Amino acid sequence: MTIGYEEINGCLHVDGVSLKKIAQDYGTPTYVYSAANIKSQYDAIAGAMKRAFPEDAKQPKLCYACKANSNVAILSYLRSLGAALEIVSEGELKRGLKAGFNANDIVSTGVGKTDSEITSCLKVGIHQFNIESIPELENINKIAGEIGIGATVVFRLNPSVSGGGHHKISTGRTRDKFGISEESLYEAYQMASDMEHVTPVGISMHIGSQVFTVESFKTAFEKLPAIVKNLRDSGHSVTRLDIGGGFPIVYKDEDLLDLDRYAEWVRDIILPLDVEIIMEPGRYLVGNAGVLLTRVAYVKETSTRDFLVIDAAMNDLIRPTLYEAYHGIEAVENRDAPKKTYDVVGPICETGDTFSTDRDLTQMARGDLAIIQSTGAYGYCMASNYNTRGLPAEIFVMDDKAHEIKPRQSVEDIINTDIVPDFLK
Ligand SMILES: Cc1ncc(COP(=O)(O)O)c(C=O)c1O
Repeated sequence: MTIGYEEINGCLHVDGVSLKKIAQDYGTPTYVYSAANIKSQYDAIAGAMKRAFPEDAKQPKLCYACKANSNVAILSYLRSLGAALEIVSEGELKRGLKAGFNANDIVSTGVGKTDSEITSCLKVGIHQFNIESIPELENINKIAGEIGIGATVVFRLNPSVSGGGHHKISTGRTRDKFGISEESLYEAYQMASDMEHVTPVGISMHIGSQVFTVESFKTAFEKLPAIVKNLRDSGHSVTRLDIGGGFPIVYKDEDLLDLDRYAEWVRDIILPLDVEIIMEPGRYLVGNAGVLLTRVAYVKETSTRDFLVIDAAMNDLIRPTLYEAYHGIEAVENRDAPKKTYDVVGPICETGDTFSTDRDLTQMARGDLAIIQSTGAYGYCMASNYNTRGLPAEIFVMDDKAHEIKPRQSVEDIINTDIVPDFLK
């Protein structure tokens, strides 16, 4: 079973706390995260890099891509483990600072950085901007000049490599909106060198999420030495390489990336370039740590199918609808009951509000609890208020104790921000 999760006396527990107790105390649907699982994932990446790198080499900066799960408690925990941070918005910058990250441990990416976001990042002194286009470079130079604070930048190279596990999460193909082609990179680097308020220091890349074709990493990395050489031959300084995230996790029965092999590629291809190495793991650090705890609202038996209608819906977890993503589903109790085939669906008025079709699960009844697994990444942070449903609660479990890190959103919280003009009252 997933690290952090175990069956005790017939009931699923997370880090020593019964999921039944969590449901009683905080209701459902609720996201629950295991601290032990997050720590073991962090240690796995950091450990693989340590094993591969010579003792005297500087270890990569592990910048947690907090778009995966940006609760400030999760950020604080990852900071306590030694992580730095990758952000994609001013909101994530604020969360990172609230979680106690040193600004110099924060890198900013994203194709549409706003003026306000750029200004805030400059004022607090982040480590670097990962630039995605020449207009963005020009804007950062302008803002840096206006406020009198220079910007350190790297250019996001679009390596023309298809890596992501689903076409909607592949980011490194020529047709994707991310990064700059190799040809434009040289021009951009020269432009930046000629600018007064930006200092170009290197290159970043991120080929996609859930990268199962692990050779894609190698293919992308192998493009870097020649590019770095070309830049240096043209008189430019290249002191940083940010090699992105994309480490896959298990949702079903996938073969995982061999982290030791990955670390050896970084050692063999990137380390000789004598640069600061930055990595941006997101999903890998938190994905398997989380479950969405839910209760069966109804069992609906029809002539052709049996539906488990649960109280979680696509507004709580959009991944199955958005990416046709598979998530394991398990009963919390009565785990030895006979199997039955169900379609597991939420209550929202969309056929797409379906978590699984024809899934063999232990037989369940109205009121039973179940978990939707591997929902620690791109779960809560992608939730919405569709159908005027309040956002779920979030619970962080560590050392046999559950901590509420986000209360359930009430319906009043949603409705009370609507403004009815006087003439309609
Ligand atoms: C620039 C960048 N870095 C890192 C990540 C994190 O990816 P993952 O969660 O697959 O590790 C993303 C995901 O979209 C990204 O766009």
